[in-house]
Amino acid sequence: MTHRIAIIAGDGIGTEVMPEGIRALEATAKRFNIDLEFTTFEFGSCDYYLEHGKMLPDDWFEQLKGFDALFYGAVGWPDKVPDHISLWGSLLQFRRRFDQYINLRPCKLMPGIKSPLAGREPGDIDFYVVRENTEGEYSSVGGKMFEGTDREVVIQDTVMTRTGVDRVLKYAFELAQTRPRKKLTSATKSNGISITMPYWDERVVEMAKGYPEIAVDKFHIDILTANFVLHPDWFDVVVGSNLFGDILSDLGPACTGTIGIAPSANINPEGHFPSLFEPVHGSAPDIAGKGIANPIGQIWSGAMMLEHLGYKEAGDAMVTAIEEVLSEGDATVLTRDVGGEGTTASLGKAIADKLGK
Ligand code: NAD
Ligand code: IPM
Ligand code: MN
Repeated sequence: MTHRIAIIAGDGIGTEVMPEGIRALEATAKRFNIDLEFTTFEFGSCDYYLEHGKMLPDDWFEQLKGFDALFYGAVGWPDKVPDHISLWGSLLQFRRRFDQYINLRPCKLMPGIKSPLAGREPGDIDFYVVRENTEGEYSSVGGKMFEGTDREVVIQDTVMTRTGVDRVLKYAFELAQTRPRKKLTSATKSNGISITMPYWDERVVEMAKGYPEIAVDKFHIDILTANFVLHPDWFDVVVGSNLFGDILSDLGPACTGTIGIAPSANINPEGHFPSLFEPVHGSAPDIAGKGIANPIGQIWSGAMMLEHLGYKEAGDAMVTAIEEVLSEGDATVLTRDVGGEGTTASLGKAIADKLGK
C-alpha cells in the first residue's frame, strides 16, 4: 500500500531540516518495507506569498485533502511577511480546515543531553503536552473599531465549544490511560479568566468521571510554568487550551535542553482529513542559512507520522536511532544547541545511517 505524503518545507530552517526528515524517513521506509510517496509543494512559504500575494493557492484544500499525511517544516519570515498573515494564511488554515484538533507534543529529556535544570536526568522529564488546536484563544471572532482615533478598540474573543473542549480532554484522558503513571494535569486560569476557564475546569471534572483510574490535577498556568521548571517529574499528560498548550510546548522542550528536538503531531483522529507533522520550532531566522539547525524535531515528527500511519515499530526505531546518536555524544556530529559543532546534515546523516543498518 502506497502512503502519499505532502511535503511543505516552508521558510528558513524549515527548508534545511526537511531534507534530513526525508532522509531518515526514506531509510526507515526501506528497512521496514513501507511504501512512501513524497510530493513537494512550494506553497505555504513567505517566498510563495511574495510572488502570489497569498500563502496558499485557492484550491489548496482540494490539492491536499487526498494525502495520507502532511509533513511540514516551519513557516514565517517576519521581515518579508507579517507573522499573523503568513501563519493565519497557512499552518492555522491547515489545522482548522483539516480539523486537526489534537496537537500532540512529546517532551522528553534524551540521553546525552544536559538539561538546563540542575540535576535532571533522562527519566525525570518524560511527558506529553496535549494542546487543543482548532479553537480557544486562536479565534477569528473579534475586530478593530474606531481605528486611528484615540477611541481605538481591539477585541478577540476566546471560543470554547463543548465539542471542542470535550474531544481534546477525551484524547488526553485516553492517552493517560496508556501511560504507566496514569496521570493527567489540566492547565487552567479560572481564577482570572472568569468564563471560559471555569468552563474548561467543569468539563475536566465531568470527563474525569469516566476515567476513575486516572489521577487528575490542575494548576493555573502561571504556577504551572513554574512547576515545569521546578518539578518536571510531576508531569505525565498535560492538557491545555490552544494558547496555554502553545506556551507549555516550548517551555517543556527548553527544559530538555533545546526546542530543536521537539516534534509535534497535528491530528485529526477520525482520519476524515490528513494529519500534519512538524517540529515545534519555527523558521529560526537568526540561524537560517548557516546549516546548523538541529534536524531532530523534524525527524522525530516523521517518526510520529509513521506511527500515525500504523507503523509503530518503524516510528520507535526512528526514536531509538535519535537516542543512540545523542548518547554517543560525538561533537563533530551533534549541532550546537546540543553541545556539538556539527551541522544539520552531519546529525541527520548519522541518524539515517543508524536506520539504514
Ligand atoms: P523559533 O522557534 O523559530 O526560534 C526560537 C529560537 O530557537 C531561535 O533562537 C532559534 O535559533 C532556536 N531554534 C529553533 N529551532 C531550532 C533548531 N532546530 N535548532 C537549533 N536552534 C533552533 O521561534 P521564533 O524566533 O519565535 O519564530 C521565528 C519565525 O517562525 C516566526 O515567523 C514565527 O512566527 C515562526 N514560527 C513558526 C512555527 C511553525 O511553523 N510551526 C513555530 C514557531 C514559530
Ligand atoms: C506552534 C507555533 C504556532 C502556534 C504559530 C507559529 C502560529 O508557535 O506551532 O507552536 O502558535 O500554534
Ligand atoms: Mn509555538
